[in-house]
Amino acid sequence: MDKIIIEGRNKLSGSVNISGSKNAALPIIASTILTAKECVLTNVPRLNDVLVMNKLIKTVGGETDFTGNTLCIRNKNITNFKAPYDLVKTMRASVYVMGALLGRYRQAEVALPGGCVIGERPINLHLQGFERMGAKITIEHGYIKAKAKKLKGAEINFDVVSVGATANIIMAAVLAEGKTIISNAACEPHIADLARFLNTLGAKISGYGNKEIEIRGVPELKGCKYEITPDYIEAGTFMAAAGITNSKITINNAPLDHLEIIIHKLEEAGCKIKKTGTKLTVQGIERPKPAGIETRPYPGFPTDMQAQWSAFMSLSSGASIINETIWEKRFMHIPELNRMGANISVKGNTAVVEGVAGLSGAPVMVSDLRAGASLVLAGLRAKGTTEISRIYHLDRGYERIEKKFEMLGARIKRVK
Ligand code: UD1
Repeated sequence: MDKIIIEGRNKLSGSVNISGSKNAALPIIASTILTAKECVLTNVPRLNDVLVMNKLIKTVGGETDFTGNTLCIRNKNITNFKAPYDLVKTMRASVYVMGALLGRYRQAEVALPGGCVIGERPINLHLQGFERMGAKITIEHGYIKAKAKKLKGAEINFDVVSVGATANIIMAAVLAEGKTIISNAACEPHIADLARFLNTLGAKISGYGNKEIEIRGVPELKGCKYEITPDYIEAGTFMAAAGITNSKITINNAPLDHLEIIIHKLEEAGCKIKKTGTKLTVQGIERPKPAGIETRPYPGFPTDMQAQWSAFMSLSSGASIINETIWEKRFMHIPELNRMGANISVKGNTAVVEGVAGLSGAPVMVSDLRAGASLVLAGLRAKGTTEISRIYHLDRGYERIEKKFEMLGARIKRVK
């Protein structure tokens, strides 16, 4: 299994291009099932999760051609309405094909996704939404089956904000009869990107980016060419890398509108930020000021930046509190950071970080995607060698992360 080896403690400099957003690309690729016409997606990140979604499209009968960062999809002859366990178990976002298949073909069968290292990850809200639109749901032999004679627009009010359920219901509603209103919808940039893509295909979605989304069903969708938005979590990860290594890094294509809370927190920690057009330059700091966070749905602090922030705060000049309110078990990176000299204790969904003056390189193990990013950041800052194993988690969501850091001057390499 591949490993990443980092010789830490050297300054980074220069600029980096951010790839397309994984969390936007996955539902957008799934949603192409809603049209029989060709969709050409550009700026698609070449990540393992995207490759799995590509495979899933082929499994249901679509034709795809993924060259560089351009993915062409033709879903003319969908013949199979089933997302098999083999694929769903490697990527939970597979569940997105459910809304799309149900939307166009009124039937879908998806393996139950099951638990995950960061928490239980239920999908009850997705299923309740489909039922309100007229689908009949049954669960048997580890598979969820959804069937409907007709899908009808409905008023759907989520009691918790869910990115996955919001995306799935939007997909089911686009070709449904009448109007669907989603209240307490997720406002994440990737939901807005999905809605913009579907509108380019001819859907009628309004209010996205806000808590109430309205979808007016249309009879069919056309094809289009669409560019995936840059990944604000990847941008945030490089910004935190500048912070933790006390370096100056420029993000060339920063999705500035999506980075407000991350910019605000970096400034609170003492980093200097400069914006010029779409370029954003971050100057890090040797010992950041303590800046606690609480993860919240967008526009709050993203759970996908919590692990990276924990690594940054481990070097702070005081104590800070990290509250994780989205995923109850998302602290698997903490024991690994502590092995590198951090002083962080966890109780329930709260981590108390006592800042230390430095970290020391150590062999560490990645438990999930963002935990992996936090260990790379810690390795860049630590004195000596950090050897990171189980990096397949990182490959799920970062495109050539070690290459991008190498270009910024990091002593980092991948070994087989
Ligand atoms: C969540 C994050 C997303 C992040 C992703 C991977 C939020 C709101 N969502 O998205 O930013 O990219 O994890 O880290 O920050 N829930 C239910 N029932 C459901 C669905 C969800 O109770 O049917 C709960 C979950 O347990 C969780 C919360 O709602 O506490 C958010 O889940 P959801 O947004 O659906 O998860 P993801 O789409 O994976």
